Amino acid sequence: MKEKRNNLSNKLSLVLIIGIILFGSCSKKDDAFVNRKVSFNSNWSFHLNDSLIDKDTIGTSTKWRTLNVPHDWSIEGKFDEKSPAGYGGGSLNGGLGWYKKTFKIASEDINKTITIAFDGVYKNSEVWVNGHYLGKRPNGYIGFQYEISPYLNYGDKNNEIIVKVDNSKQPNSRWYSGSGIFRNVWIQTTDKLHVAQWGTYITTPKVTAEKASVNFETTIQNQNSVSKKATVTTTIFKEDIKVTSVTQDITISANANQTIKQAAQVETPILWSVEKPELYISVTEISVDDKIVDQYKTSFGIRDFKFDTDKGFILNGKQVKIKGVCLHHDLGALGAAINTRAIERQLEILKEMGVNGIRTTHNPPAPELLDLCDKMGFIVMDEAFDMWKQTKTKYDYGNDWDKWHKKDLIDQLLRDRNHPSIFMWSIGNEIPEQWNENGVAIAKELAAITRQYDKTRPITAAMNPPVNMNLDGINLQFDKAAVQYNKIAASGVLDIIGYNYAHQTYEYHKKNFSGIPFIATETTSALETRGYYDATSDSIKKWPVRWDLKFTEGNPGNTVSAYDQVQAPWGSTHEATWKVIKKHDFLSGMYIWTGFDYIGEPTPYEWPSVSSYFGIVDLAGFPKDVYYMYQSEWTDKTVLHLFPHWNWKAGQTVDVWAYYNNADEVELFLNGKSVGVRSKKGDDLHVMWKVPFQPGTLKAVSRKNGKTVLETEIKTAGNPSQLKLTADRSTIKADENDLSFVTVDILDDKGTLAPNANNEINFSLKGNGKIVGVCSGDPVSHESYKGLKHTALSGKCLVIVQSGDKTGRLELTAKANGLKQATIVITAE
Ligand code: GAL
Repeated sequence: MKEKRNNLSNKLSLVLIIGIILFGSCSKKDDAFVNRKVSFNSNWSFHLNDSLIDKDTIGTSTKWRTLNVPHDWSIEGKFDEKSPAGYGGGSLNGGLGWYKKTFKIASEDINKTITIAFDGVYKNSEVWVNGHYLGKRPNGYIGFQYEISPYLNYGDKNNEIIVKVDNSKQPNSRWYSGSGIFRNVWIQTTDKLHVAQWGTYITTPKVTAEKASVNFETTIQNQNSVSKKATVTTTIFKEDIKVTSVTQDITISANANQTIKQAAQVETPILWSVEKPELYISVTEISVDDKIVDQYKTSFGIRDFKFDTDKGFILNGKQVKIKGVCLHHDLGALGAAINTRAIERQLEILKEMGVNGIRTTHNPPAPELLDLCDKMGFIVMDEAFDMWKQTKTKYDYGNDWDKWHKKDLIDQLLRDRNHPSIFMWSIGNEIPEQWNENGVAIAKELAAITRQYDKTRPITAAMNPPVNMNLDGINLQFDKAAVQYNKIAASGVLDIIGYNYAHQTYEYHKKNFSGIPFIATETTSALETRGYYDATSDSIKKWPVRWDLKFTEGNPGNTVSAYDQVQAPWGSTHEATWKVIKKHDFLSGMYIWTGFDYIGEPTPYEWPSVSSYFGIVDLAGFPKDVYYMYQSEWTDKTVLHLFPHWNWKAGQTVDVWAYYNNADEVELFLNGKSVGVRSKKGDDLHVMWKVPFQPGTLKAVSRKNGKTVLETEIKTAGNPSQLKLTADRSTIKADENDLSFVTVDILDDKGTLAPNANNEINFSLKGNGKIVGVCSGDPVSHESYKGLKHTALSGKCLVIVQSGDKTGRLELTAKANGLKQATIVITAE
């Protein structure tokens, strides 16, 4: 590995050299590196109508509107108690949607291969270009592409693409799916001789501190009607500096694909890790007669890992506990329409909490999530399916299984296998067939396909554990005699045994099935509403009380206490779960259900609740209190988090909790008087005081060896009196895509957060941009996420501002009756 040079002139000449290497002698026109893939997101026309189901009559409709994709039409709709999606699907409707777009293709591209690539369309998409039917893709989560060059008009003549999206048969998901072209769309233009779609596969079979061997398997596609002699050069770069390159001459037959193998070595490789996610770039270049005809970039990482039966997950020789969370794909108020900044913000919030792993439940994620996990350092479990042939909801993917599962799985593997952040493939979540031999046969088939396309990562499945779940859900016990052992787990087909929940059985597992590494694929399912507290926190509540029955009782307002005391009966509290995971080395780690709240599955309630209570962070992105328990355990950051708020009725006794670290004790003071000193004993994860309420100031002081480490205060708030706006970023890009997430706090006249304030807030924006989402994190709210007003929850609300295509000032104003308004300026550059 060459050293980075500091001298400026050296740097400049380097940039020049790289320029020549990357862009060669190509003129702008055939500069494949720049033109290969361009966004096809803007200026689509959209039409939502169930009755116009014919491609030929849809054009006569006048109800088209213009928009940019990624787009999710369900999030624009009204919450509907009778929605066929059910409360599980977020009570938002699907339907039948049409997209169309006209576009021109330059006449000089007439001899090129032009492909349209969709990263994901939910669901049952069908595509036509200039009247030619290109095909159908039922799976909403996988990327797919069609070559369109044979059907195009070149030069001044228009082309028309029509996409039909059919999400009308519901329910087809256990959570909110969203509807439409909800991921990015690209046009790819290449020479007829090019690297095939997802055509590179980079592995690093041998990694030591001195050297890493890097193997390239590259599939080249020749769409010429004659055979071609070409040179394939693969060059590795690290931060724009050439590391090494390999070259091979090939002859490829007419209309054929050819896969070539190349190998290189990287001296003193800079390894990818969670703390320092170092990436390399490989550039594949195809030249014919010394002219570069195609260039293809692949980002990859060099790391060495294994899952060990006794020591869990070992990354680059070091034991790393996977502190992961499960994530569904929706982005709160933005719905399922992906936005890179919104995903990045989620990951930033999770990273700050100490999370180092993401499980992509229960489907292939947006490619941008994986790119970000590569860059930010997360250990990803990439999951393929929530069901196989046997359906979980009436119209789900089980219906498409026979025809599509093989292709969908292969495409996921081809798409994802170069991501260094992915360490495991999961072939399914809580698959009903896990209990029978039929499931074993399917698992074997899926594992064989997976191993055919990637032997470098272990295969797991998120299974139900071998427990006999007591119907009350209370005495979840391993019952040796009664157990119906999971057939897939027992079949030996998996490299890692993955169980969801039942942390009580992990030790049993170790005793009886040692020899196979183990991971808690899904844990916890604890429940909280941000900012709502049952005054006493002594008892653990299982809600619903019986896992197999409808939940009928509950609190007014469908709230759940935010002390870590409420769990689904199949789950456990955050603290109980982490204590077990922490204790045993053989547990590689866990993926908590869930990092963020998501739309749909509002356990323990049903309608009028429409979004989940499982998140450690709410739907708006505001952390719930337990976030700080993890931060105190999972990060080096010094933490002292005190809760609940301090607005109670006189005389009421309130449980006051503190999460802390890096200290021996915490002392609590009420209005200057000590309430007592507490310190965590044994495996405690928090301390608690019972405090008779008196208005005023509650103050906590953490100390180490008698010295103050941190202090924090909570004050009784007076009446709500003013609004405060805080932007996560006050400068954003003027690219019609970038976002600023603005927090609205409702404060009293002294600036203290009013913890029970639920004022309706009205928003307006001046400048070239728009408000694209509003959300308070309240699972019971039926206000539109796309409106210009929203009711706060526990004193807080979020408004999301998106830039337009012009630079300038974006001035956001928030107003509420009786409160002093607030304005904030965001600059679009
Ligand atoms: C799990 C399931 C998840 C989610 C969760 C809620 O069993 O895998 O998708 O439904 O329960 O607790």
